[in-house]
Amino acid sequence: MSPTADQILDALRAVQDPDLRRDIVTLGFVKELVVSEGDVSFTVELTTPACPVKEELEAQAREAVLAVPGVESVEIQMTAQVRSRGPQQEDLVPGVRQILAVASGKGGVGKSTVTVNLAIALARQGARVGLMDADVYGPSIPLMMGCPQERPLTRDSKIIPIERYGLKIMSLGFLLEEGQAVLWRGPMVAGTVRQLLADVAWGELDYLLVDLPPGTGDAPMSLAQLVPLSGVVLVTTPHNVAANIAGKAAALFKRLNAPILGVAENMAVFVCPHCGQESRVFAGMSGGELAKTLGVPFLGSVPLDPMVSEAADRGVPSLIAHPDRPQADSFREMAGELARQVSIRAAGRAEAEMLNPQKA
Ligand SMILES: Nc1ncnc2c1ncn2[C@@H]1O[C@H](COP(=O)(O)OP(=O)(O)OP(=O)(O)O)[C@@H](O)[C@H]1O
Ligand SMILES: [Mg+2]
Repeated sequence: MSPTADQILDALRAVQDPDLRRDIVTLGFVKELVVSEGDVSFTVELTTPACPVKEELEAQAREAVLAVPGVESVEIQMTAQVRSRGPQQEDLVPGVRQILAVASGKGGVGKSTVTVNLAIALARQGARVGLMDADVYGPSIPLMMGCPQERPLTRDSKIIPIERYGLKIMSLGFLLEEGQAVLWRGPMVAGTVRQLLADVAWGELDYLLVDLPPGTGDAPMSLAQLVPLSGVVLVTTPHNVAANIAGKAAALFKRLNAPILGVAENMAVFVCPHCGQESRVFAGMSGGELAKTLGVPFLGSVPLDPMVSEAADRGVPSLIAHPDRPQADSFREMAGELARQVSIRAAGRAEAEMLNPQKA
């Protein structure tokens, strides 16, 4: 006897998303279920293409369905639909589902490097990703992405982002003449950040990653006030000063209603290219300890690797130039963890809205 769609759905209720702690049927992930005699096919739509447990969920779903009497074959299509940010009255970037800011307390800890490589890692998983350089004081993204000479075109009074390595990129660096310096006053920063959001044809994006200047100045303040942020990635190196100022940055973002998605540690460990031995480079508070102190997730640690800066200096993100080195694995894992944290938060918000529609 051939199985029914209800039987298949019942079987799939045994498959839990470990992060959202619900089964994939209740979560509405199972779509386009077709049962034809003993042949079953369906789609599982996850909340991010960069889901770290994608393969695991697929295997569990397959096993659960194959155990239903009468099932002969199972065909599963794994897709993803990144959830949108909360609703907003005047949305400057309506097509952008999630906006992730990358911040730090101290300068030079590797924010731009981390932003670029996380963006590439997410895009490689199939997400539509934008990269916005909000470091108006020292835009470094054009150089790091190997396109400092590019000048964007304008269409229908919107600036078309530059496309590189599968990312849509915008930076003030593309709009200034070479060597041109800007004398900034507070309101100008807010105006420029607004322009980089609203005047750019970002189109439909799953993730827009925003590279911030260090500290808690006008750029992060304006960004958090102009758009609802999905959250902030705090980059730190294991220096007590870095950890201390990162804590202050975290406090500011919390006050601005931007949740901290987690701490990303950079340059903590050096792996000797000759003997493979790992050494800690700095003796201060680690990213893991900082995350614990702040009560936020730890997203992972990227080792110090001379190839990272060598690649960045010649305009190729290290994940592309050296995909087989440990730093590349770290960036890929960190991207998965970040996507996971965003999905968990989005699901929490959706649930709160369902339980309490007036307040949400
Ligand atoms: N894991 C790493 N291994 C080796 N070098 C790195 C690593 N991460 C970053 N760097 C190098 O450290 C320098 C600073 O990095 P980056 O420009 O990304 O920092 P930043 O926090 O964005 O700086 P700023 O505060 O000036 O914006 C760069 O030369 C970069 O190539
Ligand atoms: Mg930077």
